[in-house]
Parts: sequence; structure tokens; C-alpha cells
Amino acid sequence: MSTAEIGLIGLGTMGAALALNIADNGFDIAVWNRTTAKTKQFQADAGALAAKVTATESLEDLVAAIKKPRAIILMVPAGQAVDDQIEALRPLLDDDDLIIDAGNANFHDTNRRATADEGPFLGIGVSGGEEGARFGPSIMGGGKRDHWDRVAHILTAISAKHQGTPCATWMGEDGAGHFVKAVHNGIEYADMQMIAEIYGMMRDGLGMNAAEMGDVFAKWDKGSLKSYLIEISGKVAHTTDPETGKPMLDVIVDAAGQKGTGRWTVIEAQHLAAPIPAIEAAVVARNLSSQRANRALGEDTFGAAPHRLAHDMMATETLEQALIAGKILCYAQGFEMISKASEEFGWALPLPEIAKVWRAGCIIRSAMLDDMATALAADAQQNLIFAPYFAEMIKKTHNALRQVVAQGALHGIAMPALSSGLAYFDAMRTARGTANMIQGQRDFFGAHGFARIDGGEGHHGPWGG
Ligand code: 6PG
Repeated sequence: MSTAEIGLIGLGTMGAALALNIADNGFDIAVWNRTTAKTKQFQADAGALAAKVTATESLEDLVAAIKKPRAIILMVPAGQAVDDQIEALRPLLDDDDLIIDAGNANFHDTNRRATADEGPFLGIGVSGGEEGARFGPSIMGGGKRDHWDRVAHILTAISAKHQGTPCATWMGEDGAGHFVKAVHNGIEYADMQMIAEIYGMMRDGLGMNAAEMGDVFAKWDKGSLKSYLIEISGKVAHTTDPETGKPMLDVIVDAAGQKGTGRWTVIEAQHLAAPIPAIEAAVVARNLSSQRANRALGEDTFGAAPHRLAHDMMATETLEQALIAGKILCYAQGFEMISKASEEFGWALPLPEIAKVWRAGCIIRSAMLDDMATALAADAQQNLIFAPYFAEMIKKTHNALRQVVAQGALHGIAMPALSSGLAYFDAMRTARGTANMIQGQRDFFGAHGFARIDGGEGHHGPWGG
């Protein structure tokens, strides 16, 4: 009997959590997993929600269990697995049945799938980790608007709410949703990296212990930096390893993993000529973190940097201000990239709405995003650093960022994302930059031409030999 409102394929951590969320919101759902044992386990663990779940053991049974026109969510690993799943599923579906890829797909793949003319297709970015998926993620939709409208009631119901407003929005055609999710992840990388750099300054520069740093993060979580990432950083710093009794931070290897979404953002930024140096630096920092052997060799070869500052050289308030400046600069870069992509791909991406869907449910949720939504609603064209509210904040905090980066440089504490943020700021406040030298060089060796300040393009220099 076809009773389910929606279907879901892929009962991994995120898929299972999303399926339970859908059931919990009162929708009947049919589920299927490649391994039947997992499907059975899911149903057994569903408790009271099991009544809303039809667990199926074949794709045919899954399709038969869903009301027409059908909608089926895929929660399978990004890449070939999605294509394979679509290929297996499409022949069993009617022409107007909708496939929704809710994984972390590369938006170029979503563009291809959405325009393949093989039936309705949506690509939605879902953020919030396992807990978000279970109790309310942030959802960034992409594809045809009328396809989104078919399932919007379910997606908004299961999404996180910011003061009652659902964090689920249609971003635009084709891969627009997955593109916005990729930029979200780029910002996520930079935000995490900047926090890690400040942690490095506290640990190595100020000699603070994990509990002290946990207290500092917990305090910051009550101010302008209030955010999920600051909150969990405090919790991570406060947690003790049950095996050794040491702080967890002291037993975790300093090599960061990555699944690729940050990298996609950086690659795309280069195609778009969008300056996102803090995000690029964060991806580079993850790559570099994995070179453990070389870093150890470097310390042997060059000696450890001095690291330790005199305590009164850096108040934690200065670190807080530096992080505020860095955070604004990195988000401004992310939004500028979205704005460029919107023009390039003809998407009309709704910048204020993007800030709004990021206010709750997702990994980068923070108090500041509410103010960013307000600033972007007033003027979505302008770089966020020029929005009056944020310009004021940057005026108050950029000197702290400069101090932190300078002390990092003097004491050998690497600050790739914060220093990139600072360099971006300095470049953006310099009316007369230095690219005139580059133009002179280009014209010298290649007669590429340059514009003159007193007028005209395509000039050439009288370069001597
Ligand atoms: C989210 C996260 C989520 C996940 C990514 C990033 O928004 O819920 O971004 O999608 O954490 O897989 O992970 P990596 O750090 O491995 O790239």
C-alpha cells in the first residue's frame, strides 16, 4: 500500500537521523538501505516512531510504498554513488517522481543531474551534523522552484527554526543549493581555523591549560562571538580523556581531516575570481596539518619557534576582538563569493535569506549571522565590511587582529587564516595599492598594456633596455 509521503535511501548516520526527523514531524516515510540488516536495525531503533516508518527490503518495495507523485531523498556518499543510485532508481519511477539529493554533493554534479532531463531533481544542502539532521538542520534548496514547492512543507517542518522562522529556503535553480552549502562549508573551515589559531596563541603563546582555555571560550560564547563553534570549542577544551585523565585536546593528533567541500569552494572561488583568502588559508592549513612528519623534521631542522609571550603582552580580550574582526572578514569573503556566483551563473541568490537560513541548525550558526541578515537585507550588493554596523565593529577590532597576527609572527605561531583576513582588510582599505608595479612588469616583458591614472587604457611604457 502506498502510504508514505516521502522515501529515503541511505540509512547511514545522517540518513537515519533525517528519516527519524521526518517521522517525528508526523510524515509517513518509507526507507531503504543497500544492506537490509541496517534497515532492520533502523526500524528496531525507531521506537515509537516505527509506526510512521515503512522499512523496505528492495528498491521496488520502496517505490511501491510511496504516494504518487513520489519524492525520494538520497542520503548516499557524494559522487559516483549518487549517480549509481539514480541510475538504479529512475527506471522504477514515473516521469514526474522527484529525486532529492540531500548529501554534500559538488554543485557541478548537481547542475549536471538537474539538467539531465531524466526527471525532476533537487539538490539540497543540509547542515547541522547528526544532531541537526535529527532535530532540525539548516536546508539550502536548489532545483526547479515548483519541485521545491512540492516538498517544501516537509523540508520546512523538519528544519531548524530561528525564533519561529524555518531555516529552509530555495536558493535557485540547479546546483544553487549545493553551491551555497559549499560556501557554508568554506566559511566553516575558516571559522574553525581561526578559532584553532587563537587556541594556539593561548596554548603556546600564553601557556594556558585546556581548562583555562575552555573557560575563555565559554565566556566568549556569551558575547559577540556567540556561536555553535565557539560553544563546542569550549566543550572540547573542557573534556577529559577517560583513559589517561589528560585533556582530550592533549591526546588528539594535530592533523585535520576533510571530505572536500572546503576545497571545492576554493577551486570555485578561483574560477569566479572571488577573493576569499581566509577560506583558502583554512584549506591550506588543513592540508599542511596532515604533513606531520615534515613538520617534525622542520622543528628538528630549524629549531622550535620561541612561542611564549610575556603574559601581559596579550590579554584574552585582545584575542576575542581579533577573532571578531577575523570572523567578519571571513564571512564577508564568503558572501562576496556568493554574490559573484549569483551573477556568473544567473541564479539571483538571495543573500539576506542565506544569512537567515544559517542563523540556526547549521554548523556556522551564530548571533552575528542575525546582524548579517539585517545588513544584507538593507544592501545585498555591498560587501559586508562596508555595512555600517560591521564597519563600526571592524574599526573597533582590527587593531587587535593586527596585534595578534604580529605577535604570532614574532613568536613563530602560525596564523594563516587570521593573517590572510588581516591582509584582505589592509588591501581593501588601500586606495592606492601596488598592482601598478605588476602592470609595469607585464608591459615590460609582454607589452600587455596598462591604464594611466591621467586617463586611457592600452598604454605602453618607454622601457629602457
Ligand atoms: C555541516 C557540515 C557537514 C560535515 C562536512 C564537513 O554543515 O553539517 O559541514 O556537512 O561536517 O562533511 O566535513 P569535513 O571537515 O570532513 O570536510
